[in-house]
Amino acid sequence: MTADIIDGKAFAMGLREMVAQQTSQLKARHGLVPGLTVVIVGEDPASQIYVRNKGKIAAEMGFLSDTIRLAADTGQARLLEVIADLNGDPAVHGILVQLPLPAQIDEGAIILAIDPNKDVDGLHPINAGRLASGQNAMVPCTPLGCSMLLADRFGAGGMIGVRAVMVGRSNLVGKPMAQLLLAEHCTVTIAHSRTRDLPEICRQADILVAAVGRPEMLGADCIKPGAVVIDVGMNRIDAGDGKTRLAGDVDFQAAKEIAGAITPVPGGVGPMTIACLMVNTITAACWAGGIDAAWSK
Ligand code: GUN
Repeated sequence: MTADIIDGKAFAMGLREMVAQQTSQLKARHGLVPGLTVVIVGEDPASQIYVRNKGKIAAEMGFLSDTIRLAADTGQARLLEVIADLNGDPAVHGILVQLPLPAQIDEGAIILAIDPNKDVDGLHPINAGRLASGQNAMVPCTPLGCSMLLADRFGAGGMIGVRAVMVGRSNLVGKPMAQLLLAEHCTVTIAHSRTRDLPEICRQADILVAAVGRPEMLGADCIKPGAVVIDVGMNRIDAGDGKTRLAGDVDFQAAKEIAGAITPVPGGVGPMTIACLMVNTITAACWAGGIDAAWSK
């Protein structure tokens, strides 16, 4: 029996429809137009594609969508000025600074400068702290999307006591994902690329989330029969004949013969990340307007 394929693309389309409806309601009832500004520094081709997509989908939602493009040699002081302007602009509810930034800019200093209530990436330490202490937080988009897919799969209360292994410990995915799993009452292990006996630990997981950034690192020996596998990996690898393809952190072909359900790459977590950026922008707009944002949780 092969695993169910978790269709993140279809789920994300549904979520986007909900966000578009919510946007119409915010406009009609409160005169509030959610505003998202994405800032990109430099010409990294992958980042350019991501940013174009974010802007396009934000506009489709009915948001006030803006993209600020800065030259690759922009200094930190200039970027801090741009962020200060956006922090002070009441029409901007969400600010996203695309990462990575050029070497002359300290990423940590930029993240700290963003108003935590406009931090739709959920990267500000205030949001990380709010999440870790069970308060209302802006949650990073990728783990938020993964947790929605899991909630859909397991149903209300369905994750209580379940063993979850998070492979990866980044601020953007691994750490917040572990917090979200803990909030669902999972028994959570955080593993990473240097974990000893990694396959043995992964094989205990009823929920396995992979975000290590190493193509197809987790093979058949890492999957518990029937496990739900969420693959956050987006690795471009050689596919022969001068072509490339996207690969996850999990060996999909091997894992799908063992797992109970698995997200594909592409078409799994990726579309959820952008849809959750839209959800977070609505949440930020609601916070700014003093409107209950519970619908998006
Ligand atoms: N670069 C790759 N993923 C992300 C993300 O989720 N947020 C930001 N700001 N930059 C990224």
